[in-house]
Amino acid sequence: MPKSIAIIGGGHGGSQVAASLRDGGYDGALTLVTAETDIPYQRPPLSKAFLKDPKHDLLPLRPASFYEKNSIELRLGARVEAIDLRARRLTLADGGTLAFDALALAPGARPRLPRIEGIGFDGVFALRESADARAIRERLISASDVVVVGGGFIGLEIASTARLLGKTVTVLEAADRLMGRVVAREISAHFLGLHRGWGTDVRLDTAIGRVIGEEGRVAAVETAAGDRIPADMVLIGIGVIPNSEVAGAAGIQVENGIVVDDFMATSVPEIVAFGDAANFHHWDLQRRVRLESVQNAVDQAKTAAATLLGKHEAYRAVPWFWSDQGDVKLQMVGLPFSATRSIRRGSPDSGAFSIFHYAGDRLVAIDSVNRAADHMIGRRLIGAGISPPPEVAADEGADLKAMVAGVSAGH
Ligand code: APR
Repeated sequence: MPKSIAIIGGGHGGSQVAASLRDGGYDGALTLVTAETDIPYQRPPLSKAFLKDPKHDLLPLRPASFYEKNSIELRLGARVEAIDLRARRLTLADGGTLAFDALALAPGARPRLPRIEGIGFDGVFALRESADARAIRERLISASDVVVVGGGFIGLEIASTARLLGKTVTVLEAADRLMGRVVAREISAHFLGLHRGWGTDVRLDTAIGRVIGEEGRVAAVETAAGDRIPADMVLIGIGVIPNSEVAGAAGIQVENGIVVDDFMATSVPEIVAFGDAANFHHWDLQRRVRLESVQNAVDQAKTAAATLLGKHEAYRAVPWFWSDQGDVKLQMVGLPFSATRSIRRGSPDSGAFSIFHYAGDRLVAIDSVNRAADHMIGRRLIGAGISPPPEVAADEGADLKAMVAGVSAGH
């Protein structure tokens, strides 16, 4: 058992690995180092409730007393600049150092910014951390014309909030549909209708060209095609980049994130990595992926903690994700990338429907709009490897719950 473990990263994964190590009986020194100045908090509300309401506080994942009681030292506001593998020591930005025997890497990801003119003007934002959310919330009070770049989860959640606050909102999406990375075309089409219905000007096939400013402040956005949209605030949500540079510089294997095995072990013994920054071989897809979600960070952190404690349990959790846009809940379970066909349960006109994705006869993923029950049953079905025949899934009268009777929800 390592005498001391350092955790890099104070997101959902970093906090979870600390808790799981103590739960698992680890009694050595445990230090969590994070560049952020808030104790680990829930990230998803930052693009939702937090922006809407100035009185909404951050929601800590665990109270400060949890870390004290469990002798988990929190080093907030501490950025790790280098990992010295030979000396087993971290170098911090303030010049300090921290020795470790084992290391848990949960560095997360950061927003990708387009390389365009004007990106540095005052009023251009990207959202990842509490500090970003506070700045965006503050600026939203006085903003009137908001341009959102990227029609993914982050962009659309912010767009719906900004509309709710009465702003004029334009969304620029480079692809021919919204949220194209992960959801079915029917879902994209449904959300396009919703956002337009809420009064947002959604422009597909439209990439950003440049940001135009006046006296250092954003004044307009020009699309790649040359159209000009007035803006006093611009939000960039075009995806994220894994924070894997420090690990890579230390000699840990990195390729689109930190490369890990089924047990979250990196190429270096006694160093594990997990969450948004971890690149792992997905047992079902048979290829390497990085998954950016709370579920993935938390469940991989549990696997990583077990590995550090000498118990080897391969990561096999069913992925799930969600997004709240306006009053509509989108939930996804499984990964649709191998799907060969999809069927619909419920109707988009009713505002509540699900798309079941099949690879051959095998159910691999479900996207649900305002149908939480389908999502919950889907987690159990996919977790247990049970595939309702497509015609059964499409029949709203058919009881899918009966198929999972006796199967526990698992992850
Ligand atoms: N101009 C306009 N749109 C663009 C451009 C561009 N130059 N480049 C990319 N896009 C679009 C993509 O086509 C995609 O639809 O931006 C969208 C980005 O969506 P995501 O990849 O889902 O990323 P984002 O919404 O930023 O989410 C980042 O937060 O909610 C989590 O799981 C989510 O981890 C993800 C992260």
